[in-house]
Amino acid sequence: MVKKIKKKIKHFLDLDKMTAEDLRGIIDLSKSYKQGITSGQDTHKSKTLGLIFEKPSTRTRVSFEIAMYQLGGNVTILEHERTHLGRGETISDTAKVLSRYIDIIVYRTSSAKKLYELAKYSDVPVINGLNDQTHPCQLIADIMTFEENIGIIDGKTVTWCGDFNNVCRSWVQASNIFDFTLNLACPKDLIDKVEMKNITKLKNIKIFDSAEKACNNSDCIMTDTWFSMGQKVSEKKRKLLQPFQVTNKLLSIAKKKSIFMHCLPAHRGEEIGKDILEHPKSVIWDEAENRLHTQKAILNWCLK
Ligand code: CP
Ligand code: NVA
Repeated sequence: MVKKIKKKIKHFLDLDKMTAEDLRGIIDLSKSYKQGITSGQDTHKSKTLGLIFEKPSTRTRVSFEIAMYQLGGNVTILEHERTHLGRGETISDTAKVLSRYIDIIVYRTSSAKKLYELAKYSDVPVINGLNDQTHPCQLIADIMTFEENIGIIDGKTVTWCGDFNNVCRSWVQASNIFDFTLNLACPKDLIDKVEMKNITKLKNIKIFDSAEKACNNSDCIMTDTWFSMGQKVSEKKRKLLQPFQVTNKLLSIAKKKSIFMHCLPAHRGEEIGKDILEHPKSVIWDEAENRLHTQKAILNWCLK
């Protein structure tokens, strides 16, 4: 009997599962898609991308959809609640069935465990489209946007102000792969004790009590919503986060040639002052656009 040799499947699950070389390749290819140096047209003709979203999305969903079309492929959108996955069919059965129809899956779910389970049973690549722990696709676009404005990220300083959440956790992972300093200005009470212990061991992370001290001399200031999807809005948390709101003052403390980024959606008057998105240092629309270029490079890396 001839044994079928299973090809190694290239999942894009978390940055800490990737090599620096692969990530650099994805970022550089994204830049080349944007500049039109690589057209990508017809690269993945006859391939189909399946999008499974358990949570709302504008940017991730639309950018992946358009990216796949621009690469010549097809897209099928699986609204979680309208599939049997949403009413209890197991993840492993779903993964095995979908692998017979489609070539690559983007999965946005609350639980990292479910993402890894889908990848375990899938015969096609699975991409993490955000979960409660991490958001690696966002990071590729963020690093690309940083480098377009400031130059190669190694040796630079990025400051995160606000909630210690999924996007922030992917920044922590990125700082352990690329050699830049990540200043964290987050209320300590919002960080799990074991996680805090692990973070403090990382050589590129600096933890601050004061947002002003953290932003001093930074190349980039970043933040995100105080209440991620699925989290309960609480006044107690809001109060803890108030001193870490990104304001005009914080942006003026950063380096003269620095930028402000936010993965969006934003809540004006909460994690950011009312006019911060329109601040001259804000590059948020480029950051959002770059999701499209980077999704193409991620799809290409997985499918190659
Ligand atoms: N930044 C981001 O992932 O946005 P969406 O939730 O709209 O996909
Ligand atoms: N931290 C946010 C990111 C949204 C893209 C959330 O999970 O809701």
